[in-house]
Amino acid sequence: MAFSKSVFLTLAIFLACFSLRSSNAADVSHDGRAIKIDGQRRILISGSIHYPRSTPQMWPELIAKAKEGGLDAIETYVFWNAHEPQRRQYNFEGSLNIIRFLKEIKSAGLYAVLRIGPYVCAEWNHGGLPAWLQKTPGMQFRTDNQPFKNEMQIFVTKIVNMVKAEGLLAPQGGPVILTQIENEYGNIEGPYGDAGKRYVQWSAKMAEALNVGVPWIMCQQDDAPQPMINTCNGFYCHDFEPNNKNSPKMWTENWTGWFKNWDAPDPHRPAEDVAYAVARFFQTGGTLQNYYMVTKFSGNNVTSACFLSNEGNSTDATFDYEGKSYFLPAWSVSILADCKEEIYNTAKVDTQTTVKVKKPNLAEDESKLTWSWAPEILTNQVKGKNPSLKANKLLEQVKTTADASDYLWYITSVDNLQEGKMTLRVNTTGHGLYVFVNGALIGSQYALNDHFSFIFESTIDVKGGTNVIALLSATVGLKNYGSFYETTPVGISGPVQLIAGNTAIDLSNNQWSYKIGIDGLGKQLHLKNQHIKWHSRTVPTKRPFTWYKTNFEAPLGSDPVVVDLQGMGKGMAWVNGENIGRYWPKITATSKNCTACDYRGEFTADRSCNTGCNEPGQRWYHVPREYLKPGKTNTLILFEEFGGNPSSINFQTVVVGTICATVNEKETLNLTCEGGKISGINFAGFGNPQGTCQAFTKGTCEAPGTLEKVKQECIGKLSCSILADEGLLGACTPCGNVTKKLAVQATCS
Ligand SMILES: *[C@@H]1O[C@H](CO)[C@@H](O)[C@H](O)[C@H]1NC(C)=O
Ligand SMILES: *[C@@H]1O[C@H](CO)[C@@H](O)[C@H](O)[C@H]1NC(C)=O
Ligand SMILES: *[C@@H]1O[C@H](CO)[C@@H](O)[C@H](O)[C@H]1NC(C)=O
Ligand SMILES: *[C@@H]1O[C@H](CO)[C@@H](O)[C@H](O)[C@H]1NC(C)=O
Ligand SMILES: *[C@@H]1O[C@H](CO)[C@@H](O)[C@H](O)[C@H]1NC(C)=O
Ligand SMILES: *[C@@H]1O[C@H](CO)[C@@H](O)[C@H](O)[C@H]1NC(C)=O
Ligand SMILES: *[C@@H]1O[C@H](CO)[C@@H](O)[C@H](O)[C@H]1NC(C)=O
Repeated sequence: MAFSKSVFLTLAIFLACFSLRSSNAADVSHDGRAIKIDGQRRILISGSIHYPRSTPQMWPELIAKAKEGGLDAIETYVFWNAHEPQRRQYNFEGSLNIIRFLKEIKSAGLYAVLRIGPYVCAEWNHGGLPAWLQKTPGMQFRTDNQPFKNEMQIFVTKIVNMVKAEGLLAPQGGPVILTQIENEYGNIEGPYGDAGKRYVQWSAKMAEALNVGVPWIMCQQDDAPQPMINTCNGFYCHDFEPNNKNSPKMWTENWTGWFKNWDAPDPHRPAEDVAYAVARFFQTGGTLQNYYMVTKFSGNNVTSACFLSNEGNSTDATFDYEGKSYFLPAWSVSILADCKEEIYNTAKVDTQTTVKVKKPNLAEDESKLTWSWAPEILTNQVKGKNPSLKANKLLEQVKTTADASDYLWYITSVDNLQEGKMTLRVNTTGHGLYVFVNGALIGSQYALNDHFSFIFESTIDVKGGTNVIALLSATVGLKNYGSFYETTPVGISGPVQLIAGNTAIDLSNNQWSYKIGIDGLGKQLHLKNQHIKWHSRTVPTKRPFTWYKTNFEAPLGSDPVVVDLQGMGKGMAWVNGENIGRYWPKITATSKNCTACDYRGEFTADRSCNTGCNEPGQRWYHVPREYLKPGKTNTLILFEEFGGNPSSINFQTVVVGTICATVNEKETLNLTCEGGKISGINFAGFGNPQGTCQAFTKGTCEAPGTLEKVKQECIGKLSCSILADEGLLGACTPCGNVTKKLAVQATCS
């Protein structure tokens, strides 16, 4: 799966610590109930921030926001292929400065959970394992394989030693309270048989011998040997039980959403369902966790709590308990303080919803960006001149390039052909293919919808005598998941055939010349190179293999900056020489639909609620402020493969545009515009309003003066509070005995 360098925040749960003494050494241990810090059982809420997906300048704010949101710990993976791009050549600079990241966590007074892996999955290229490993003879990933174990041990040891040297483990006074070896191996272990089992044992022993002084975890590993703690990842973890009485029940990845595919809309998980999953987790976890949940969500000082759950996915229920009747909507959990009074129901999530909007870059004047361009020089490549290597067969791409580039050229000559039409057929394992015959681009194709191979077929004009066929194979990030995932071939697997009538010439074992990478990147065109001629007249559109360049002014203020690449086809983008990602707006999000979604029923990746259907799958790219300089001295450079039109590219800032909140009768609804004022009320309904944020509609019963009253109370203010009460908002009619609620949607500016 591909990745773009943008902030990636998921939330996770740990049962661990609460109060912090980060400057002091802490003793981390556990029993079957909880993680213990200095002997005390704790509950800990943690969130993942992956350091290479943001910049060092962003870290303090991201960590501070996490703390403000109530988190006690930050969890991160360690990204081996980013740190060791070539064997024994390490990179711990900039956004790869993991030590600086851990120090930021420490200075914020939070704990850290270090998931070393070093296989990480993480929607990250190749699951975090370096592609150069594949060049080592006899290499097999993630099993009892000596070459793999050697490399894994060297890297894991290096990371542990770096962390120890800086005193960052809890017993040293550092923030790291838990460390993880491997990652979700149990999910894919079966096919490895006994070798997989031996690998689990070896991983555990190897990790333990590193003497980190804090517990090790192995997530989704139900054969984890003691003292490794098996933990749960998933949308729901209430049914999870660790494989040992001495292991506390921990949820290392509470999936609050799902990742996005190039050709799919933006997936969301409804808050009501997340709340349901969380409450079920605590409901099945033990008194300590239940109690915590009550205090956290209500602020009540209660000594016990009862949980009532309705696991039905369509039928609401009424439950009689101790002489009282409780209404339980389908797929919800109610929490009763002291087992007497309902203080929380997961179907009634009442926190504020914030909708971000994008604003044009006010620093840029009204005129559009001015573009210059340069062609990608294909002359040598399409003729097979100066090849990197030659072979009498089709080579697998990753083993050939070690992923040093997305691109590999395959070039061959075919002699003694007769002038006329022939069919060229290329079987490739993708991900993309551009076909050149005698120097001219005759077609291209990409694999979509998780298909890793396709067959390209086209009628071509051949000339009499020798013809040159050049195939450019392009990847969009390497596979990151599954048993034996590294053996999934990439590149032109063959056969490659020229067909005339009933005769097929198989070119698979011809002599092929190979060239790794594209010319412009070799010449470092993405870094404002002065020796290249950039043309400023007649900037072409729809021209394949074209470089584009523009200068732009940094947007004013400190709001996050994005660039809208709508209009472009597919390629790669750099700001001031920093890669901001692969782009591919040409693909529209059609592989899933955006029909109305229902939070009731088990959430799965296929059952997500979606937005952005039929729009470009990916269009906006985050440009970290750290990459920008003040004034019109910033440069955006694009390498376009398909052909696109840069004329509508523009820079924007991301601000809070709309906020929504809902409360039940007698509760106080609070609205706050972060860094702005409430400028309008788009909806206010008291009674039985329907729908959700940005799609509220009036119900059958309402207090008619609600909108006016909310406008009076809120417009022009930074924040406002409204009691959902008939005394304030007027009588609701015709309501009978319906449960009344207040729903408001406001605009911030
Ligand atoms: C899971 O994520 C949700 C949504 O962010 C959060 O409210 C909840 O507290 C998390 N669950 C746990 C058990 O921490
Ligand atoms: C909660 O109740 C207990 C027992 O009644 C009492 O000791 C404690 O001080 C209370 N805590 C708070 C924060 O009110
Ligand atoms: C194309 O290649 C794939 C992967 O190597 C292979 O499974 C498939 O059989 C090939 N198709 C043809 C038509 O040869
Ligand atoms: C929308 O997606 C759901 C779930 O994938 C599917 O059941 C439904 O048939 C789809 N509806 C349309 C109109 O495509
Ligand atoms: C709803 O529950 C029924 C019965 O248990 C089950 O068959 C169905 O798959 C559930 N639907 C969803 C969306 O979970
Ligand atoms: C709104 O704020 C008030 C005052 O801080 C608080 O008492 C109330 O619980 C808040 N309402 C909600 C729904 O959180
Ligand atoms: C609401 O009132 C109707 C008729 O007065 C009654 O049948 C119904 O049970 C009531 N519903 C609730 C939830 O009390």
